[in-house]
Amino acid sequence: MDLFSQIESTEREELLALRKELAEANYKYYVENTPTLSDYEFDQKMKRLEELEKAYPEMYDANSPTQKVGSDIEEPTPTPSLKGREKGKGFAQVAHKYPMLSLSNSYSREEIADWISKLPAGVEIVCELKFDGLSISLWYENGILTKALTRGDGVKGDNVVENIKTIAAIPQRLSDIGYRVLDTGFLELRGEVLLPWEAFERLNKEREAEGEALFANPRNAASGTLKLQDSGEVAKRGLDCYLYYMLGDNLPAGTHFDRLQIAKQWGFKISDAIKVCRNLDEVMAYIAYWDIERKNLPVATDGIVLKVNNLAQQEELGFTAKSPRWAIAYKFPAEKQLTRLNAITYQVGRTGVVTPVANLEPVQLSGTTVQRATLHNEDFIRQLDIREGDMVWVEKGGEIIPKIVGKENANAVDRAVAPCRSAQAPVDCPTGLKTAELFDTGYMFPTHCPECGAELVRVEGEAAWRCPNETGCPPQIKGKIEHFVSRKAMNIDGLGSETIDLLYSQGLIKDIADIYRLTQDDIAKQERLGEKSAQNILAGIEQSKQVPWARVLFALGIRMVGETTAKKIARRFTTIEQLKQASTDQLIAIDDVGEQIAQNIIAYFNDENNLNIVNRLHEAGLQMVSQDEELQLSTKLAGKNIVISGVFSQHSRDEYKQMIEAHGGKNVGSISKKTSFVLAGDNMGPEKRKKAESIGIPLVSEEDFLAMLEA
Ligand code: IVH
Repeated sequence: MDLFSQIESTEREELLALRKELAEANYKYYVENTPTLSDYEFDQKMKRLEELEKAYPEMYDANSPTQKVGSDIEEPTPTPSLKGREKGKGFAQVAHKYPMLSLSNSYSREEIADWISKLPAGVEIVCELKFDGLSISLWYENGILTKALTRGDGVKGDNVVENIKTIAAIPQRLSDIGYRVLDTGFLELRGEVLLPWEAFERLNKEREAEGEALFANPRNAASGTLKLQDSGEVAKRGLDCYLYYMLGDNLPAGTHFDRLQIAKQWGFKISDAIKVCRNLDEVMAYIAYWDIERKNLPVATDGIVLKVNNLAQQEELGFTAKSPRWAIAYKFPAEKQLTRLNAITYQVGRTGVVTPVANLEPVQLSGTTVQRATLHNEDFIRQLDIREGDMVWVEKGGEIIPKIVGKENANAVDRAVAPCRSAQAPVDCPTGLKTAELFDTGYMFPTHCPECGAELVRVEGEAAWRCPNETGCPPQIKGKIEHFVSRKAMNIDGLGSETIDLLYSQGLIKDIADIYRLTQDDIAKQERLGEKSAQNILAGIEQSKQVPWARVLFALGIRMVGETTAKKIARRFTTIEQLKQASTDQLIAIDDVGEQIAQNIIAYFNDENNLNIVNRLHEAGLQMVSQDEELQLSTKLAGKNIVISGVFSQHSRDEYKQMIEAHGGKNVGSISKKTSFVLAGDNMGPEKRKKAESIGIPLVSEEDFLAMLEA
């Protein structure tokens, strides 16, 4: 392959990887409310994907994250569970009257200038705060609030009106004056549902006490709250809502600003921070003012929204597939604070990765007090030459864990701590004397696991140090158990991290299989638990025995076998016995499974301890064989006889065969009059092609075939 083609092929791979990563990030953000990327990182990746898609137009995909807004609609989970009640199931989905789009983001004066330069000369721009919650569309029919839809996938959303009615700031009926001006009887208002800082902190405190996962930020908390099935619980949490957009036919006023003032008279909560600006300088002054002042607001904001004021001009500018051309968001840079790094400690995660943690002098950051932040890995610490005692920059993006992003330059470092810059004996400082050798020994990552004492290993090509003692290192064991019971795995309710801690420390669960030996008594006698919790937990455990094989495989926690990969493996190896015997070649023939994952799987089943766990799980009655319905994805290809011919780029032949069967079709070997179509890859044999043409059998390309299944 020449260099040019090599670059092309790497870029294509990058494009596909970005699509996958962004789709997953969207899911984490909108559905699970646990963001994995900061907004800035997300936007940078999105920009790169847009660039690549422009360069490779033949790779267009209507499902690419560049083509649609992130969706908060949750995929159905097959097993009913208590947690299901907490999530977005059970809401009727309703089509939006007008698509609910997103805004394109900007991060600098230049980007805003560029946007303004594309608008009509002399245009008025309304500046508003960008509230950091989730958008809601309120429908008023004949003056009454009838529906409240989440953004959903932009085309349809969940109707959460009962929950919305608990928000005092949202009128349930329009005031008389409002109602009388509407000749159509219909009005739509859009706005942002928020959980004010105070309520957010109270909620997280309660969750912490209950051992439940914390919300990363008020946005995630608001989103999780709005999707609760119990409106009484929603009411307790104290949501708020600001409105920023009015839609409907024959509405009053010719500008956006005036419309919002009218909405305010009708009883809606409209922010006072709205300002009409006439040029870039005025816009930048507004931004500068609110970047500081927003810290005094009771709710979270993450930027400014700029909108063309004149509605006729708005209409003329129109929309792209994802956002209006008449509006743009400016995102504030993630907030950073300088603080002292008091100590570096080391945390061992579920997979044994040892993460250095910065223990900081507490600082206020984006509304919360931060005292711990990730230092990522050894290389990061070395590159920045970070040591205990340094002044470091801590940043909080969209993620729950704040991170260290830099170090203040040497001049600003407190000279008093300079002699302490030794990794060997920082505790002696500042009283102890540092010898010259100690002073410059450089940073040393621990050689042994801080939890179990095992010698750490660093895998070639990876930045992380790992504790290899998978079966004897407490956080790894507890982490494995937490993963096992988690929603997408076995979905066992009531076993939060604190309960697992408790049961582990009592020696009641030492591995995942022990869960199935727990008795009512074991659980009920624990402090904080009791008979009722014990019953619930046991019911959840019992129910988990119905969880299908693919999720059981995911739950085992084999390194790098995520949810999707587990599904693909389970489709190929329909029983655990088959999987135990699988060879590397058979494994890497599966889409998404590379050399490394194949090795991890083989190593997992070669380990005595794992085999023992698997056997006990089997005996407990877990599903380790695929049920037929799992394989039957649809009947789209029912009655179709399909010949596969040629070379394919997106899936292997074997996978296409499985797909055909999973969608009800039949894969046949040779072309005849009974053949419905040929799934034709590159370099299809000339004989076959001729035969298909002579008897009029259509050839379907790989892309068209996949689109057919997606449709
Ligand atoms: S206008 C057609 N105004 O930001 C565009 N959106 O990133 C309508 N948001 O989905 C949106 N504050 O949820 C608008 N003052 C404001 C906003 C605002 C927050 C949210 C909204 C939107 C998201 C886009």
